[in-house]
Amino acid sequence: MSEQREALALPEVAAMKRAGTKIVMVTAYDHPSARLASEAGIDLILVGDSAGNNVLGYDTTVPVSMGEATMLTSAVARAKPRALVIGDMPFGSFQASDTEAVANAVSLVKAGADAVKLEGAGPMVSRVRAIVDAGIPVMGHLGLTPQTATMLGGMKAQGRTAIAARQLLHDARQLEAAGCFSLVLEAVPAQVAARVTRSLTIPTIGIGAGPSCDGQVLVWHDLLGINEGVTPRFVKRYADVAGETRRGLTAFAAEVRSGAYPAEEHAYKIAADELRAFEADLPAIPDAEVWRDW
Ligand code: KIV
Repeated sequence: MSEQREALALPEVAAMKRAGTKIVMVTAYDHPSARLASEAGIDLILVGDSAGNNVLGYDTTVPVSMGEATMLTSAVARAKPRALVIGDMPFGSFQASDTEAVANAVSLVKAGADAVKLEGAGPMVSRVRAIVDAGIPVMGHLGLTPQTATMLGGMKAQGRTAIAARQLLHDARQLEAAGCFSLVLEAVPAQVAARVTRSLTIPTIGIGAGPSCDGQVLVWHDLLGINEGVTPRFVKRYADVAGETRRGLTAFAAEVRSGAYPAEEHAYKIAADELRAFEADLPAIPDAEVWRDW
């Protein structure tokens, strides 16, 4: 029988807001990362389209395809994490119509997602409603929405004027009314995020949105120090995985080149009589080889 999954339930996420318990979300894009996130007690795993620039080598999130998103989501889901798995809907997978949005959300759920996330409001509110009506929980995403960053004037903080902040609050209320179970607020002033958070009954998850959000999310490669370049101001590094990886790889290369690896404990044995029989009519290998008597 396959191992039973004890996943966090959606009502528990809602209850965390009411109880004032901070919700912790990270992105993850593969099976071992999802397992580690689960072991660390992370509440929500977002299989973000940030995979585009963090693991797939694209410059932005825009080129990520449904095929890629589905493959990454299924790898994460197979870890059977306690965390809820949220599949991010890539650019182009939900903009055209409600019907297409529902079909692509269904694909992510079939791949193992418990919920989906999509960016934007306005016409996207109808997409949210259609997906929720199809029985799939949706997380919204406002503020800096990287898929449409060009329209926003670049990868910049949003909601920094009274008009823009009012629009953000309006959009957040619309997404809540359309049935979102939670909302990511990316790169918005802390005061604006606090107001939005207080105005909604659903939890907000902030990334560069100050401490008043109901939860926080960071991108895996940023928080673990896999990305070493310039990062947005909201990124805090909690580990130096790039440094540790470089140290490990350099040591491996040095030991292979010096002959220190593999050592006797890394080798398989053959019984002496079997070895003698095997080598009986073969030319001798010079005795100087260290592994001769292993
Ligand atoms: O794709 C992603 O990683 C995201 C987070 C920044 C929320 O959307």
